[in-house]
This record gives sequence, structure tokens and C-alpha cells, in this order.
Amino acid sequence: MIRFDALRVAYDDSVALHGLDLEVAEGEFFTLLGPSGCGKTTALRALAGFVQPTSGRVHVDGRDVTDVPSERRGVGMVFQSYALFPSMTVAENIAFGLSVQRVARAEQRERVDRVAEQVGLRPEQLRRGVAELSGGQQQRVAIARALVLRPRILLLDEPLSNLDAKLRVQLRGELQRLQREVGITTVYVTHDQEEALALSDRIAVLSEGRLAQVGTPREVYEQPATAQVCDFVGEATRLTDAQRRLLAGLDGDGLAGDGEVWVRPEHVRLAVDGGAPAVVRTLAYRGPSTMVGLELAGDPLLAAVPSAAAVDLALGDPVTVGLDAHRVHRFGAAR
Ligand SMILES: Nc1ncnc2c1ncn2[C@@H]1O[C@H](COP(=O)(O)OP(=O)(O)OP(=O)(O)O)[C@@H](O)[C@H]1O
Ligand SMILES: [Mg+2]
Repeated sequence: MIRFDALRVAYDDSVALHGLDLEVAEGEFFTLLGPSGCGKTTALRALAGFVQPTSGRVHVDGRDVTDVPSERRGVGMVFQSYALFPSMTVAENIAFGLSVQRVARAEQRERVDRVAEQVGLRPEQLRRGVAELSGGQQQRVAIARALVLRPRILLLDEPLSNLDAKLRVQLRGELQRLQREVGITTVYVTHDQEEALALSDRIAVLSEGRLAQVGTPREVYEQPATAQVCDFVGEATRLTDAQRRLLAGLDGDGLAGDGEVWVRPEHVRLAVDGGAPAVVRTLAYRGPSTMVGLELAGDPLLAAVPSAAAVDLALGDPVTVGLDAHRVHRFGAAR
């Protein structure tokens, strides 16, 4: 459906993408995930036709669109800043692209009504000025404005980042439902790993303009390809040599060998008979679980425990620690 072939984008003083190869399947909810500056927006803009690649090609539906102007790519884009017209009503904003295309009035109204319903805008809201709407409602308008043109592909650049945490979670659920309903191939950009894991069919993790890994949320989280992916997607501690020696006592030589060893907090166990001695340094209650910051062999180690099991823990408490050696992640020597 979408293919990037060795896509390279260089700006005057920097290279944003170093030859990106990527394929997105028809109907997929595909996410570009990575830290600020890794090239996510650049990749999206190259797909939309707002940025001309330095080299490499972009294919949509088997057609090379690298030199096709943006408006003829069948792509709808929702920007982080919404970019709505403040002096227009909600309905006028949504219908804007249809008026440009000189679609008949009656059909405009029908399509606006239908898409408004899909994104959860009420009929009476259509007559209001967009400036009167909340951030979440404006975001719905921005999505409706893109969808009303019936694009083949929907591009969303950090569409939820301006919203409060609760609304973000609600809207991402709605977005997922809407995407399934409409069946539209979607490329979503975020630096929020939790959002990416929750929403996506597949995720591409970018790091400094390069593809670090592509896979399902489960694959990326449970089988990270590199230490950067392990570190960026979810939480993890890189064990020091001293920590490895202490923890290995429990599991034979399961932690020996070359390269880095990383462990996710949920695979660190507390109150283990014969475990390594550690001290509780931080406690962060997260509802169902509590994140316990331990000090082990002079360095930090994160452990996630069910909150019910953490209720008696206090800062400074001595604990014993163990881990499942087969659950750790090993990576070759750092580059
Ligand atoms: N118009 C531009 N001119 C020059 N450099 C740019 C331009 N746009 C982006 N860059 C640079 O390219 C790199 C990638 O930028 P990009 O906006 O794609 O990152 P991003 O992953 O979307 O980051 P963020 O999460 O902060 O939005 C950055 O180093 C950025 O400074
Ligand atoms: Mg960006």
C-alpha cells in the first residue's frame, strides 16, 4: 500500500532521514514512534508530498508518487496544531476541501453530516464557531475535515498531544474505533510509547533518522531489537557488571557473557529467598502497580510490583531481589 524505498531527506544543515525502508499494508494502523527530532514528521511530510526527498522513492498503491503533487496523492493529513480556520463555523471548516473541489451544496451537507457523526460531533455543534470548541472537539473537527475528502490514507501527526491525559486516552480509543470502521490506512506519529503500544497494528521505531525496529506492539516491547528500542519503548534498566554478578548467583550463570543485559521492571522480583540485597530508594504509586526504584550494588534498578504487594514498603527498606534470567534482554556490545 505504502512503501518507502531508501528515503533520504537532508535539510541544509542536517540529515533527517538516512535512507528509510518501510512498508505499510492496506488498512493498517501504522505508527512512527521515536524521540523528538528522530524524523517522524519528516517521514510523514514526505509521504504527504510536503517535503521532497533528497533521494529514494515513495510508492502508494504500487504507484511511484515521489514526483506527484500533494493534492493528487489521496492523502489526508491532520496536523498537531489542528490548523483550523478560526473565523469559520465547524461545518464550514469540515466542508472547506469540498468547496475547493466545487462539490454541490447538497452533497457537501450530506458528507459533512455523516463524517461529523463518525467523529462524534453533535449536529448542533456544527453551527458553532470553531473558537468556541474545546481542544478535544477541535481535534475531532480536524480529523473530520481530513476524512470528508475520503482520502486513501490518513496521516496524523501527534494529534492528541495538546490534550489532557484523560481526554487523550478517550480520544485514542475513539480514533482506533473510527479507523477500524472506516478501514482507512493510517500512519500515526507520536513520541508517546504508551499511545503507540495501545493504538497500533504495527510500530516503526525510529532513532536518529534510521529505522531501529518494525513490528507489532508486542514484538517491539517483548523482543526489542536494540538497546535503544528497549530503553525507549517501555521502561528498562541496563544492569551493571556488579549487578549482574550479584543477581547471577540465583540463576547460575544466566547473566554471564558479553554485551549488554537489560531487564524490564515487571521481571524484577522482590522478597526473594536468597535474593540479592537492595534498598528501596523511590516509590511511585501507579494505581494497579507501584514502581519501586531500588539501589542494588550502588546503582539503580527498577521493579514494578502489584500495589497490593507494595503497601508495606517504605523508603530505605532493605529488600531482596531476584529476576528471571530468561526474561532479560541481551544486546551485542554497544556501537
Ligand atoms: N524545515 C527544516 N529545516 C531544517 N531542518 C529541519 C526542518 N524540519 C526538520 N528539521 C530537522 O530534521 C530533524 C528531524 O525533524 P522532524 O521534525 O522530522 O522530527 P520529529 O521526529 O517529528 O520530532 P518531534 O517529535 O520533535 O516533532 C531534526 O533534527 C530537525 O531539526
Ligand atoms: Mg514532529
